[in-house]
Amino acid sequence: VFDVVEMAPDDPILGLNEAFKTDPRKEKVNLSIGVYCTEEGKVPLLKVVEQTEKKLAEAGAPHTYLPISGIPAFTSGVQKLIFGPDSEVVKTKRAATVQSLGGTGALKVGADFLATVLKNPEAVVSAPTWQNHVAIFESAGFKVGSYPYYDKKTGEIDFPAMLECLKGLKKDTVVILHACCHNPTGVDLTQEQWAQVVEVCRDKGLIPFLDIAYQGFGAGLNEDAGSIRQFADSGIPFFVSNSFSKSFSLYGERIGALTVVCKSEEEAKRVNSKLKSVIRANYSNPPAHGAKIVSAVLNDPVLLQQWHEDLKGMRERIKEMRHLLAEALKKEGAKVDFSFIEDQHGMFSFSRLTPEQVQRLKDEFGVYAVKSGRICVASLNKANVAYTAKAIKEVL
Ligand code: LMR
Repeated sequence: VFDVVEMAPDDPILGLNEAFKTDPRKEKVNLSIGVYCTEEGKVPLLKVVEQTEKKLAEAGAPHTYLPISGIPAFTSGVQKLIFGPDSEVVKTKRAATVQSLGGTGALKVGADFLATVLKNPEAVVSAPTWQNHVAIFESAGFKVGSYPYYDKKTGEIDFPAMLECLKGLKKDTVVILHACCHNPTGVDLTQEQWAQVVEVCRDKGLIPFLDIAYQGFGAGLNEDAGSIRQFADSGIPFFVSNSFSKSFSLYGERIGALTVVCKSEEEAKRVNSKLKSVIRANYSNPPAHGAKIVSAVLNDPVLLQQWHEDLKGMRERIKEMRHLLAEALKKEGAKVDFSFIEDQHGMFSFSRLTPEQVQRLKDEFGVYAVKSGRICVASLNKANVAYTAKAIKEVL
């Protein structure tokens, strides 16, 4: 029966991460996967997470099933985090939030749900985007197209082309947007540009789906949710997938949420019931550990403040690494001006390296980047930044 099964290609991101682990070179640098590492090159265990885990272990609670939609204190905490505690959306209860298996799980549940609602489901993603956006929506039965975003010539967003494209989309097309810290480019829309995107989505009856996997890594938790809050103010229905993998350094716990903003509390209840059906048929109900940690922090003012500080520390270290890499490349006498790295946001930088140059980086220097030229600046540190700059200069 499996004679017909062909070998699937390695995942463009996770496949590289696996290859990195088996690379014997001491000097190797992993800039492929979106994981924040400390100055010591380690994935951090945040203090708030450590403290909460200790308390959970001491409490010794049994491992029961969670409700299909997750821990209520978690989902309400998520709403306050993404919309702001005083948001009208939260107060009027017109949003349905379910716990998910990371941001990917939220996208998948949202896509599966939408596929049951739309007749001929179509979605568009930014060009370029995180590859899994396409895979997830296609696997849910969507026809997936793209809208112009990053302009390779200028290194900026081709906003007029993006807007023009959105204006030409059919009603009910799902528009997948990166709420902040665009993956892979690190180039974000301004709040003024977001206002125009909201207007087009409203006028054309499009369905915005905002993916926010890096809240807190751009300018701050509230600032990074600015786009979501503009959509919330507009009154139109939209989706938000959010992840705590990066912001809590809880990658392996697979903890995130899907939120669907509806027009009324009554509508949100109906939507919530359908989301639960989608989850039940997929994986029954969500895992508990990550949700217990996140809800404990989101609902305790002291822990919440401590988490804000942790995030600030990560954000500032990434900014410093951007600066150090740009400086090191200048010092190396790189032919290209890399100062744009400092203007980008979040964990990633689109380095403008070609696939051939990326391949050479890996083969000759053990520096791993994604084929598109995306590098994870959050994995740089003072010990590897000069080596990385030297390698980049060599392959240019
Ligand atoms: C990334 O883009 O590197 C991360 O979001 C990890 C992943 O799942 O691809």
